[in-house]
Amino acid sequence: MSETSDLLAAIADTGRDATRGGYSRPVFSTAERDLVSWYTAELAARGLEAETDRNGIVWAWWNPAGLPLEGAVVTGSHLDSVPGGGAFDGPLGVASALRSLDLLRQRGVVPSRPLGLAVFPEEEGSRFGVACLGSRLLTGAITAEKALALTDPEGNTFADVAARSGFDPRGFGRDEETLARIGTFVELHVEQGRGLIDLDAPVAVASSVIGHGRWRFSVHGQGNHAGTTLLEDRRDPLLAASRLVVAVREVAAANPGTRATVGRLHPVPGGTNVIASRVDLWLDVRHPEDVVTVAVVAEITRRAQEIAAGEGCSVEVREESFGATVDFDPALARRITGVLDGAPNLSTGAGHDAGILAAVVPTAMLFTRNPTGVSHSPEEACTDEDAELGSTALADVLADLLV
Ligand code: GLV
Ligand code: MN
Ligand code: MN
Repeated sequence: MSETSDLLAAIADTGRDATRGGYSRPVFSTAERDLVSWYTAELAARGLEAETDRNGIVWAWWNPAGLPLEGAVVTGSHLDSVPGGGAFDGPLGVASALRSLDLLRQRGVVPSRPLGLAVFPEEEGSRFGVACLGSRLLTGAITAEKALALTDPEGNTFADVAARSGFDPRGFGRDEETLARIGTFVELHVEQGRGLIDLDAPVAVASSVIGHGRWRFSVHGQGNHAGTTLLEDRRDPLLAASRLVVAVREVAAANPGTRATVGRLHPVPGGTNVIASRVDLWLDVRHPEDVVTVAVVAEITRRAQEIAAGEGCSVEVREESFGATVDFDPALARRITGVLDGAPNLSTGAGHDAGILAAVVPTAMLFTRNPTGVSHSPEEACTDEDAELGSTALADVLADLLV
């Protein structure tokens, strides 16, 4: 069977983005569905059958003894990407799950619990705005009603897109039967920062995911003509939004440890000779202490109102998602650290389905070194050797948990 990098090589051309560079694989796009087909075929090649649950999570079970599925050990990750993302964020965890299964079989491991393999939809929230949508639906961290009403940039609702992709919108929501099957969850992910470069180690065990949320600011002004409207007569929301971007950095800098980002800004209607009537701006804020995140967003909101008023505009703020800081199960992290001969422990500023599942089941994560330290960018990387070391570490951990 293939090594981890061979598995990834098979999908190296799926969802390439010629405009942005890297990969754009939004949930339910052709690219993401092609990846799910690839994954299903890889499962079939291993004698495993893929089943998609009512929240869009793809499951498969290695259960040679035909045991009840309740309390299984589960591993997996996601296949969707941010716009113009790297090759490893998500797919490395999926390929490593397949590879670790091959390694367990080669080693002759006889599992005393089933091993589940899972792929979660819309981990990035790059289409419908809420990250980890599949795991949030599974656990009830988002209600089906709220999820179904989410819209993508074209204005399609999650309900409509899911229905067109073959899902029954009435089926979404917390799923006790599926949750009962997850006794322990372990997600392997490419590291999205420089932690392992600095530690000179190929693999780490996660200690925590720092709290984070997303807010949408809509700045309303007066749409008008670029040639006939004198500067003093303008109520230009793009000017207010630009000042707000700078204010976001200032507020973040005044609160050490804050990461605050405006990575998406959309002027409406968006014409060269048109003063915008509205600008939508998405804010991402993260801090290890949730009270700081809340205070930072409150201060940014206050600054947004002040700036908007100064330009004769108004602003509306909507929270799209918020997740508190998650400390992974310390006993499980200690056990895994022991299995991996004292591998380093790292906290991460990136969000993961594991962070959502940690609220309901003992959960752990492994990180595999990224030699550029860059992620959500085509420069994200992982050497073939480290990818294989990561899969081997995952197989070691799963072997320990399964017997
Ligand atoms: C996903 O990778 C996120 O942290 O936003
Ligand atoms: Mn990811
Ligand atoms: Mn990501």
